[in-house]
Amino acid sequence: MRLTIIGTGYVGLVTGACFAEVGHHVVCVDSDASKIQTLQQGGIPIYEPGLEELVRKNAAAGRLSFTTSTADGVAQSDIIFIAVPTPPLPDGAVDLSFIEKVAREIAAAMTSYKIVVDKSTVPVKTGEKVAETIKRYCKAKVEFDVVSNPEFLREGFAVEDLMKPDRVVVGVKSQRPVAAMKEVYAPFNAPFIVTDINSAELIKHASNSFLALKISYINALSVICEATGGNVQEVAHGMGMDARIGRRFLDASLGFGGSCFPKDLSAFIKIAEQVGYDFTLLKAVQQINAAQMDRFVKKISDTLWVLKDKTIGVLGLAFKQNTDDIRMSPAIELCQRLQKQGAKLRVYDPKAMEKAKTVLQDVTYVEDMDQVAEGCDALVVATEWEQFKKLDLERARKELTHPILFDGRNLFDPVEMERLGFIYKSIGR
Ligand code: UGA
Repeated sequence: MRLTIIGTGYVGLVTGACFAEVGHHVVCVDSDASKIQTLQQGGIPIYEPGLEELVRKNAAAGRLSFTTSTADGVAQSDIIFIAVPTPPLPDGAVDLSFIEKVAREIAAAMTSYKIVVDKSTVPVKTGEKVAETIKRYCKAKVEFDVVSNPEFLREGFAVEDLMKPDRVVVGVKSQRPVAAMKEVYAPFNAPFIVTDINSAELIKHASNSFLALKISYINALSVICEATGGNVQEVAHGMGMDARIGRRFLDASLGFGGSCFPKDLSAFIKIAEQVGYDFTLLKAVQQINAAQMDRFVKKISDTLWVLKDKTIGVLGLAFKQNTDDIRMSPAIELCQRLQKQGAKLRVYDPKAMEKAKTVLQDVTYVEDMDQVAEGCDALVVATEWEQFKKLDLERARKELTHPILFDGRNLFDPVEMERLGFIYKSIGR
């Protein structure tokens, strides 16, 4: 099939590359000329495992191309996916100006029937607005359908999540676009759910909010565990064995971050408010998340007492493992809070250092995780990178002025850490 994707961010680019990989012909559109030039020259503007290879391979095979022209993209396909950013506004609502602009551009370029598919995360009822906009701005007065097709990709695992989806959700107003959407997704062999557009939009916000709720639930339990001598990982394991609960997203941490959960929670609370419902449950999720960071910072300052002029090593800057994304990263927030108290930082991240340099100044960026501890008063794990588990702990213990390690991601075994001579403080254990 011939498909067009507008927006080449984490979602658009991964979606385009995976669609091409299963045999579709994909045109990716972005208004950012330098990004398109990078892609045309075989470069990748973001780090996402497996993506570079997919883009190179499919571009070389002639199934994946890039352009800055929406009109070109619209002319080349009958199915147009919108995957542009929907950033938060100061009041927690969603900025839909990119969606609106793209809807107008598509409308202006349409000369025959098109299926316009929204993949960006949007508030319920956005599909209706997109349809109204296209109708208003389409001079050719051709027929079209608007479809909501939310994405469920985790950054760092996006290719894997797209190639093997748990489900494909397609929200429609009429049955006309359903067969084509089925054909798009047929190669992925996933359960295919057809709903109305509003429900599809709600499924996305409801899913992300529920996952965030799961994390806040286990983080709240981590507080109870610390107060009672329980072990939050054992509690999560025991709970997770119940298939109705499930073990995933029950990893206690210094809090969740990223460009999705914090934003989607605020948006969902706002949407609820607009329809007259006070979503106190989700407000509690936000509060627990914020408190988890406060507690972690307090744990550090209670142990080290005065942070002014102390040197702290921080492992991890990305908001989670396997990504270079630092948007709403708890690790960055932690660094900034430690800096505020006067601490000097030595930091390392396998992929996110370049991006971190734009927001985190006056720190020492260290190129090797095993050198971070040199001369530090304590070491902190802030991101759950798998490779941090391979840290040379003997060396770190010798190089720290005091063998203190704060683990915001529970990567190490407390018993083993004690045996190695560390003062080891983690979450809920
Ligand atoms: C999230 C959802 O998981 C995706 O399904 C969704 O498509 C995506 O948002 C989106 O809306 O685009 P993502 O933000 O990439 O994906 O990352 P997650 O893996 O969900 O992690 C989010 C945050 O929660 C990270 O800071 C992570 O460290 C934290 N987390 C995750 C925990 O603290 N504990 C856990 O058990 C799991």
